[in-house]
Amino acid sequence: MNILLLGSGGREHAIAWRLTQSPLCQQLFVVPGNAGTASLATNISLNPNDFPALKELVLNQKISLVICGPEEPLVNGVQDYFKQDSELAGVRFIGPSAEAARLEGSKAYAKEFMAEFNIPTAGYRRFTAATLDEGLAYLENRRPPIVLKADGLAAGKGVVILNDVGEAQEELRAMLEGKFGAASNEVVVEDFLDGIEFSVFVLTDGKNYRILPVAKDYKRIGVGDTGPNTGGMGSISHPPFVDPDMMARVEQQIIMPTLEGIQARELDYKGFIFIGLISVNNDPYVIEYNCRMGDPETQSVMARLNNDFVQLCLETADGQLDTAVIDMDERQAATVVLVSGGYPGAYEKGKVITGVEQVTDSMVFHAGTKTNEAGELVTNGGRVLAVTSYGETFQEALKKSYASAKLISWEGVNYRPDIGFDL
Ligand code: AMP
Ligand code: GLY
Repeated sequence: MNILLLGSGGREHAIAWRLTQSPLCQQLFVVPGNAGTASLATNISLNPNDFPALKELVLNQKISLVICGPEEPLVNGVQDYFKQDSELAGVRFIGPSAEAARLEGSKAYAKEFMAEFNIPTAGYRRFTAATLDEGLAYLENRRPPIVLKADGLAAGKGVVILNDVGEAQEELRAMLEGKFGAASNEVVVEDFLDGIEFSVFVLTDGKNYRILPVAKDYKRIGVGDTGPNTGGMGSISHPPFVDPDMMARVEQQIIMPTLEGIQARELDYKGFIFIGLISVNNDPYVIEYNCRMGDPETQSVMARLNNDFVQLCLETADGQLDTAVIDMDERQAATVVLVSGGYPGAYEKGKVITGVEQVTDSMVFHAGTKTNEAGELVTNGGRVLAVTSYGETFQEALKKSYASAKLISWEGVNYRPDIGFDL
């Protein structure tokens, strides 16, 4: 069958890599893709939020399966658009409806959902411009650190953690005055949770679910988890502190009630649930829901997911995940992300990348890359490449990823040298 994948990151390159290994995959199209997906599939230069253009592509290319990588088209209703169009009736779609994607698209919605279905998460209050004074008074009595979250999607920048009540009050005011545009029309103030984070990925057909390999990602730019947040600087799978006992609790206390909530609210959810968790004294709490896979977790997760991924997507779309068996690679996987100098702040694009073809011990997944007019591979974003390796242990996998990363260079290349060192 012909398949369409939406997105352009390292996550999408890793998904494309698995999809094209399936005998069920005839032709893969990626919108818009990157230089890495171009080596496996046909990139189509369209905006994933231009739904009529996607429809035309799907009809013209006889595409029968669509997989949405990033959250934005989902929150904007791409699944609903496909479901409501009679000409697209036979097309299977992986990704939730806009209403279900609010689990990621609205922090307030997610918190309310967790409260209703008894899912452990940090205590919280919600404020809008109309209740600003109440919010300021509430903060007056909080003990820092104080967590402020813009309700809507804010390109990963909408969470601010402050160590001072006055600063938190100023931030609350700025957010409600439009610091993140409409995304911060409402702000969630959360209790701070102190612990270690990990990412659990669930594939669901809305009723049944399967748990994919667990990962841990490294969000900060600097060594020792310092400096500003990024999209993610590295990942490992499986994080050793997530033992079977912890996973049993995650399943009982978080995954099962989440699925119950999805059914109770009749949410149309066929796709990935990425649950950002934090272990506090060995108890799991939800930090956030995402309605998609994580990046760069996916690169490590896909490395370990040996299933025919097209088959798994079909079982998801057709409500048949109850018979699916997850085939997990016993080896460990580790990913190191190579970024542009300056990222996550301002950075230059168009730097010529060398050495990728010398890598033999790892997989190199592309994110912000393209081929320039001279046919050279050049940087085209903040996160540029993700180097993923296998090992008997995650340390061995990391060693390979670092050795491979050393072979790759461009002006200003940067990566964290300490992925996994805290474990
Ligand atoms: P989010 O976008 O909700 O995942 O938040 C981004 C990051 O902020 C998370 O990965 C955590 O590191 C941190 N964070 C969010 N909420 C909390 C919380 N309640 N307590 C401590 N850290 C948090
Ligand atoms: N790596 C975290 C995310 O994809 O949101």
